[in-house]
Amino acid sequence: MTEAILLVGGKGTRLRPLTVNTPKPMVPAAGVPFLTHQLARARAAGVEHVVLATSYLAEVFEPYFGDGSALGLQLEYVTEREPLGTGGALRNVASRLHSAPGDPVLVFNGDILTGLDIAALVGTHRTSGADVSLHLTRVPDPRAFGLVPTDGSGRVTAFLEKPQTPEEIVTDQINAGAYVFTRSVIDAIPGGRPVSVERETFPGLLAEGAHLQGMVDSTYWLDLGTPHAFVRGSADLVLGRAPSPAVPGRHGEHLVVAGADVAPDAKLTGGTVVGAGARIGPGAEVEGSTVLEGAVVEPGAVVRESLVGAGARIGERTVLDRAVIGDGADVGADNELRDGIRIWCDARIPAASVRFSADCT
Ligand code: GDD
Ligand code: MG
Repeated sequence: MTEAILLVGGKGTRLRPLTVNTPKPMVPAAGVPFLTHQLARARAAGVEHVVLATSYLAEVFEPYFGDGSALGLQLEYVTEREPLGTGGALRNVASRLHSAPGDPVLVFNGDILTGLDIAALVGTHRTSGADVSLHLTRVPDPRAFGLVPTDGSGRVTAFLEKPQTPEEIVTDQINAGAYVFTRSVIDAIPGGRPVSVERETFPGLLAEGAHLQGMVDSTYWLDLGTPHAFVRGSADLVLGRAPSPAVPGRHGEHLVVAGADVAPDAKLTGGTVVGAGARIGPGAEVEGSTVLEGAVVEPGAVVRESLVGAGARIGERTVLDRAVIGDGADVGADNELRDGIRIWCDARIPAASVRFSADCT
């Protein structure tokens, strides 16, 4: 039985203000903490033992997932005193693994939504005899990722994390954030100090002549590292474009979590999620968006491809388009917030009518 390590200790800086109170893997996507989807997919692929490598806001994982039995998993938690980076985090949990030195161990970045065939990646690892096998995907602009060129047999020839110069952009194949490590390779990562698996371990292994194998595919893949990607991923889960056994209920245009209150004439489309205790007023339109628990969208408001944080309020007739509203923020009536704008947690934006009359005096 293959076991897995999930890397969930990052600060989620690009996802702020969503990650001010909640670590990225615990932000709800399609009504459940995002990590639930990854755990359920791992379980469906036959994984039974998962170690969560935590750091930032580590204390929130265990109270929610407990021993993992609700998901049919045996879950363990290891918290770094100081962030150890992706490679340091792997080394730091090595003593919790049950695998023998030559066994395969799955490793997942904690912010990837993908239809990866996990069993196929393990199969590639076994048949190629690699030290590490990597899931690779192709993207139009690879600069924000780890570039992974391969030869004709799929063997990795270089690893270029976040390339800085045009000359370094040698491929559109990127590290998709899922690996199979032969267990002994994890044990050999230096302990007790930060290590980046992307900047140190992979290039070091290649320099030593180790065998890194790439498996490229074109299945659904999204890094949920930015608010817009997060909202998109959540909507794709609801619409059934992104596969997960953990989406509550059936796929459709929207998901309304039990305890939410949606006016009969409100329009919810494009994979919109309305969280527990949230309220959507009459005539409001919410498209491709996430409204987290306890948030209120007042009558006539329009919310498109946006995220409304827990307990936030969107005033009457206000328009949000690709906006992120932090937990507890209050946006008054008749505002227009567009184009990636982020409103911090608990911020207050007066009704536009109040602002305009104040400006004119
Ligand atoms: N435990 C622990 N400790 N986890 C960490 C730490 C740490 O110090 N630092 C980061 N992580 C976790 C994050 O929580 C995330 O799940 C994963 O490691 C990757 O970190 P990100 O911060 O999301 O990295 P990225 O998106 O910029 O780049 C990574 O993912 C890309 C694919 O989405 C790299 O692996 C790239 O090579 C890759 O292309
Ligand atoms: Mg990421």
